[in-house]
Amino acid sequence: MARKASIRDLRAGRVQGQRVLVRVDFNVPLDPDRRITDDTRIRAALPTIQYLVDRGARVILLSHLGRPKGKPEAKYSLAPVAARLAELLTAPVRFLGTTDTADAVRATRNMAAGSVLLLENTRFLPGEESNDPALARTLAALGDVFVNDAFGAAHRAHASTEGVAHVLRPAVAGFLMEKELTYLGQALAEPRRPFIAILGGAKISGKIDVIAQLLPKVDGMLIGGAMASTFFRAMGLGIGTSLVEPDRVDMAKDLLATGGPRLTLPHDALVAPALDQPSRAHAVPRDQIPPTEAMYDIGPRTAESYGRAIATAKTVIWNGPMGVFETPPFDAGTLAVARAMAAATATGTTTIVGGGDSAAAVTQAGLEGQMSHVSTGGGASLEFLEGKTLPGVAALDDAS
Ligand code: 3PG
Repeated sequence: MARKASIRDLRAGRVQGQRVLVRVDFNVPLDPDRRITDDTRIRAALPTIQYLVDRGARVILLSHLGRPKGKPEAKYSLAPVAARLAELLTAPVRFLGTTDTADAVRATRNMAAGSVLLLENTRFLPGEESNDPALARTLAALGDVFVNDAFGAAHRAHASTEGVAHVLRPAVAGFLMEKELTYLGQALAEPRRPFIAILGGAKISGKIDVIAQLLPKVDGMLIGGAMASTFFRAMGLGIGTSLVEPDRVDMAKDLLATGGPRLTLPHDALVAPALDQPSRAHAVPRDQIPPTEAMYDIGPRTAESYGRAIATAKTVIWNGPMGVFETPPFDAGTLAVARAMAAATATGTTTIVGGGDSAAAVTQAGLEGQMSHVSTGGGASLEFLEGKTLPGVAALDDAS
């Protein structure tokens, strides 16, 4: 795909005094008291917002939060996000808690240069998820320029991500979107070698397209997570009571044949009789998983050898945890990968963490600042790595 235009391609003065409509992904986790438990996505959008504020734009922010179904639901209001954003910007952020788009358009016209307005959850609007062209036109009336910085929602063809970009031009990428596309795109197109992918997670079915897309490109693919047990079954090994996808065993066999020596499965496993008996965890070679126990993490030998492989790589992409990282000691494999990647970053390796669970694990380990890039997109980064076109990106202007 051609490079997409970004806000840095807009000529000087283009946004001064203009209403710049910015789609961000402020879909952040909230606790039952509606306190934000992880503000990474809000922080990630700050460079774009600050850049526009500094240039005297009138900044109008759109985001979804959660999955309300086309009508307001108090628990999905963006009000707590507006408060957090104001703290991070150390500047006032006006929040408009209405779904009346005519009111919203009026509010945008009354804004001062350099001010910030956050509108209510786009998914309160019927027509958002169906990408209704009439809603896209209404949203387009909120601004004079469109900036999409919502990489995390770019795989959704919704009115506020895709539809609006066809109506409101220029339509350009924000800094976060640009950074995500640069890191993920370069890794796929021209990785520095050796190039290693580490893939984990529960199911092969959710990762099959990304494995198929990456396998021909990488020098090595290291597998972890519960999906390893489906591979073990395909190799004829006993897997005890481990999670398995019986209908994917043939697929795993095909991948083993295609991948050959490039595809590495864990040599050992951390097993236990049940997840709620972590004190009974013990490591076994992969061909000795007891019939009454299940694999909940890669074993220590595997963690060590994956660490060595990471240390020799020049580009590493990681998507999906190595085990049940929420439950120690089954977090050991995931933490070992995170630490090995952090050490590799320090020696000049490009390290990229896909969003979702692996990003959460890296954050939990406090290592997010030690990766070259931690994607803010879960589903979006996966679809990008699968080689799919992201509609929210495709709709933006090509760079000239
Ligand atoms: C995400 O959290 O991956 C994005 O914000 C997209 O959310 P969605 O899966 O509800 O569309």
